[in-house]
Amino acid sequence: MADQKSFYITTPIYYVNDKPHVGHAYTTIACDTLARFKRLDGFQVKFLTGTDEHGQKVEKAAAESGVKPQDYVDQVSQTFRDLTSTLQITNDDFIRTTEERHSKACQTFWTRISENRAPNGENNIYLGKYSGWYAVRDEAYYSENELTEGPTGQKLAPTGAPVEWVEEPSYFFRLSAWQEKLIEFYEDNPNFVKPNTRFNEVRRFVEGGLQDLSLSRTTFAWGVEIPGNADHVMYVWIDALTNYITALDYPDTKSASYKTFWPADLHLVGKDIIRFHCVYWPAFLMAAGLKTPKEVFAHGWWTVEGQKMSKSLGNVIDPEELVQTYGLDQVRYFLLREVKFGADGDFSSSALVQRANGELANELGNLAQRVLAMIGNNCDGRVPEPGEFTEDDSKLLIAAEAALDSCRQAIDKKAFHEVLEIIWKVVRAANGYVDKQAPWVLRKTNLIRMNTVLFILSESLRKIAILMLPFVPTGAEKILDQLAISDADRHFAKISLAAGGLKSGTALPKPEPVFNKLKLVGEGKG
Ligand code: MSP
Repeated sequence: MADQKSFYITTPIYYVNDKPHVGHAYTTIACDTLARFKRLDGFQVKFLTGTDEHGQKVEKAAAESGVKPQDYVDQVSQTFRDLTSTLQITNDDFIRTTEERHSKACQTFWTRISENRAPNGENNIYLGKYSGWYAVRDEAYYSENELTEGPTGQKLAPTGAPVEWVEEPSYFFRLSAWQEKLIEFYEDNPNFVKPNTRFNEVRRFVEGGLQDLSLSRTTFAWGVEIPGNADHVMYVWIDALTNYITALDYPDTKSASYKTFWPADLHLVGKDIIRFHCVYWPAFLMAAGLKTPKEVFAHGWWTVEGQKMSKSLGNVIDPEELVQTYGLDQVRYFLLREVKFGADGDFSSSALVQRANGELANELGNLAQRVLAMIGNNCDGRVPEPGEFTEDDSKLLIAAEAALDSCRQAIDKKAFHEVLEIIWKVVRAANGYVDKQAPWVLRKTNLIRMNTVLFILSESLRKIAILMLPFVPTGAEKILDQLAISDADRHFAKISLAAGGLKSGTALPKPEPVFNKLKLVGEGKG
């Protein structure tokens, strides 16, 4: 398709030696839902996720396990790949920052930045000294305000490790010279950061003045070498952020992939990493002479029963376990329905069970079950032949059809909860229609009317199921299977009655329940 619209969406790349938790699952599921939605809407989508594999922590963890860093990351990066399959994520690529393609991209990116001049005419990258409070035990720097004082007056890191003032050579990015260009860029791109409150934070930060950014380290070796100085490796952020263009074949900016997908349509990130994506990343890109992404959306964080998730509190929610206990559709639905996307949320299994039972099982599942069972029992298991439509019939059909446009608008705002509310209005309208039309009474009094009502209901169900595909793929596919919809017809372009409506007389498979009722497991434990 020559003029097919493209859509490039990314998750952050996950720290490879972290254990995947529900926060990682959240970012990934949100991106996946958006990617699926855009594909169903006819876009050519590229959806990228992957793992962030360099740095001192990884080097240390590998040493502690007695293996080479590369062997270590090869092993642990699998946990994130496994997570993508558990969550049925439809990513088109999985990038690892230790891949050859990535070090090549990073080094070229670095070279371009250092060849170009900053807006004040000076070099973008220069060799200086990085200094700070360093804890040898943690192999990490801390800022002054994180420190406490020990009994003997010794300064201590939050971990309790003693710190000392250390200086090491480091390459710096002249971020201070990019302040005006960044402000100009924000003015020209009023939708660059969403939600708006986050954009205000970003603007305030930049307007407050920028300090140059340390880009390299000499205290560890597990990273991409700096071109021309093998004593230094790249410090996390330039290495991590570049992944978004590595996956498009950068430095080959003439490649089909780069030309089709850069600039990215959306970097979806958590609110904690917004500064990197909204300040450093556009500055690096401008410095390298590349285009800037169209949008960065920052979502909120999940707590568990009001507390931050942490290993020490033992309240980390494991997505694999969650899916095993409650089912994938239920988890995907809950995470995107429970909180306004962008706001923080509080996780509890009882809230998940309540939503899954009240909405998926009782409202949508029950609608499907009632309609399909009545067709099975009263229409010889075939899509019935409708008579003339009444006002109520047309009203429901039109509402179901019009939902698509409203969903599109909400998805473009990344308002997943709103999309689900829009679809739910139709689900509720359809349930109300069943009660009002009472096809079980019509069976005895007016067969033509019963057929019409069941046709309208199954046609509405078809539209609802297509709209639900991005959110609850398994259940939505199951409903479409039961309506005998071919794969080619599972598309937004087929949502209208005229384009893809059910054909009377089509034989339908035996109906089966779609969403089972859940029981709460381990009550009181989140
Ligand atoms: N490696 C960096 C990202 C580099 S992108 C160029 C990183 N990785 S991370 O694994 O720590 O976090 C990845 C994502 O998970 C972030 O978007 C972060 O916001 C998200 N979450 C981590 N904990 C979370 C919650 N408790 N709740 C919701 N999302 C959270 O940062």
